[in-house]
Amino acid sequence: MNAPSPSNSNTLPAYERGTQDFYGRDFIVTPDVLIPRPETEQIIDAVLNLAGKSYLPGVRPSKGQLPQKPTILDVGTGSGCIAITLSLELPDAKIYATDISDKAIKIARKNADKFGISIPFIISHLLEKVNDGTIPTPDVVVANLPYVDEQWPWLDKSALQKEPSIALYAEDHGLKLIKELIDQATSLNISYLILEADPCQHEKIVAYAKSYDLIETRGFILCMHLKSH
Ligand SMILES: C[S@@+](CC[C@H](N)C(=O)[O-])C[C@H]1O[C@@H](n2cnc3c(N)ncnc32)[C@H](O)[C@@H]1O
Repeated sequence: MNAPSPSNSNTLPAYERGTQDFYGRDFIVTPDVLIPRPETEQIIDAVLNLAGKSYLPGVRPSKGQLPQKPTILDVGTGSGCIAITLSLELPDAKIYATDISDKAIKIARKNADKFGISIPFIISHLLEKVNDGTIPTPDVVVANLPYVDEQWPWLDKSALQKEPSIALYAEDHGLKLIKELIDQATSLNISYLILEADPCQHEKIVAYAKSYDLIETRGFILCMHLKSH
């Protein structure tokens, strides 16, 4: 994930303000959660496009490849910005959200209360709680997991120091959790996988996700569909 740009007054002081804009709405943020980034908004656009509800000028909406009332799971929800935005933009969808951090889940619940919506926020390592039946198998998994490689030569750690390490860094060149999620999604037959990663990681992710076809790339976002057997 990009460090917040110091030239953008909407980013760095987010923890001092206690809020950050995401998709036109103000979300509560504390040092327990990642500050939502503009590049992550493309996850919302990718899901709306799959649902046949793209509002982007110049982007032709898809025919609506999802069921009328899709089930969508946001893995690594943090502040809840993705899950809550999807719930508000797609009122017919059933949204679930998970995170491994109970502190993050508490902030996500506060944000859901703020917007007057009800989402099950569940503590889980990746798709563990789908595997054990706590969460129904979703049509779509969206995930902005930690993908920063601490060894990136261009990494400015000082710009990220206020954010929780558990939200930022992953082993295996930043790909450990993304690869594990792909493995779990494959064995659970999840139809659509929408992932955020640095563009320099996209080729490796697509090569790893052998069971998925790449539908499209939007900035930091990869949108993939399970291959038919
Ligand atoms: C990059 S942040 C994304 C937060 C939010 N979805 C967003 O886009 O702003 C990654 C989130 O994944 C969570 N996380 C880290 N490891 C996880 C795991 N093994 N299973 C589930 N969530 C995890 C972190 O606690 C953090 O909230």
